[in-house]
Amino acid sequence: MYGNDFGPPDEGVDQVKDPDRDTAHADAAAAALGEGLLGEVAAAEAALAEAAGRTVGRAAADADEAALQAYFDAVIAADQKIEPRDWMPEKYRRTLIRQIAQHAHSEIIGMQPEGNWISRAPSLQRKAILLAKVQDEAGHGLYLYAAAETLGITREELVEMLVSGRQKYSSIFNYPTLTWADVGAVGWLVDGAAIVNQVPLCRCSYGPYARAMIRVCKEESFHQRQGYEVLHVLGHGTPGQRAMAQDAVDRWWYPSLAMFGPPDADSTHSAQSMAWKIKRFSNDELRQRFVDMCVDQARSLNLTLPDPDLRWNAQRRAYDYTQPDYDELMRVISGDGPCNRQRMAFRRQAHADGAWVREAAAAYAAKRASDREAVPA
Ligand SMILES: [Fe+2]
Ligand SMILES: [Fe+2]
Repeated sequence: MYGNDFGPPDEGVDQVKDPDRDTAHADAAAAALGEGLLGEVAAAEAALAEAAGRTVGRAAADADEAALQAYFDAVIAADQKIEPRDWMPEKYRRTLIRQIAQHAHSEIIGMQPEGNWISRAPSLQRKAILLAKVQDEAGHGLYLYAAAETLGITREELVEMLVSGRQKYSSIFNYPTLTWADVGAVGWLVDGAAIVNQVPLCRCSYGPYARAMIRVCKEESFHQRQGYEVLHVLGHGTPGQRAMAQDAVDRWWYPSLAMFGPPDADSTHSAQSMAWKIKRFSNDELRQRFVDMCVDQARSLNLTLPDPDLRWNAQRRAYDYTQPDYDELMRVISGDGPCNRQRMAFRRQAHADGAWVREAAAAYAAKRASDREAVPA
């Protein structure tokens, strides 16, 4: 499990008292990075295949709403999957559209902060890796838009909701990437937080979303690994490189913690999403897993997490940590982060610049359709 990738540390050990874990441990930590996550994804993939042989009997075609609801509840209770052909409560459908669309928008907007460094990557190899990663994010957006479309909304409507600002994307992408080390910090922390959030979604009750998440998570584990590797080189490099890496981690740590959303006590939507098995763990549970996962990794990176109160709590068998600034999170969500305007302006411009491609594709599709009609039977 990703939260326990490295096992609990020795009791009484904390980040401050134990800076020199042996190198064998560091290597093991690096090797384990991603494997625990991928193990979870593989188990979810096997569960998905099993759920495909659905055992809950189908509702009759002329069933009334109560019978349809009972059937829906039975599928969820049996941990099987709701598919596009199935009846589903309107609220479930709308909740999924909102969640999957916001997720898709985040993947697309998330290309910008790192795309910023493609032309300035420090080597050809780094450039190739970063290009592949940013292209993966475009692919994630496309899988997710396709999953949302199975719920009866069009791609045009989804894109319109992003460019008009009616739907949001993850607030994390409203922070700037100031140095090359930010590419490492984004990969390690932002993609890392994304995986912790998304691995449970591989078991979500809506089949198309769960299937999209399997592939997304496999690719995200590569993203986290590449960010970790960038920081590992810098963290063990010259004093200047290490300082640059530390500065990036200092700036990205708390925004990454905020990616899990407001504390459970203030979280809207959560209870219903849990009941529908769209969401499997609370915001605070996932945030704790992420913190526990990062502490040992930070040691291996030769970097520290910017939290003087980070301490192993032997009773809870988890780290105590300082909460992110949720007022800042709300400010960024409401449009007042460092890069909100820039991100949206860039996205709108890209959408406008792509108009001719959409028009050409539509004209070509219309021509193909009329050619087919013209063929004599
Ligand atoms: Fe992604
Ligand atoms: Fe990613």
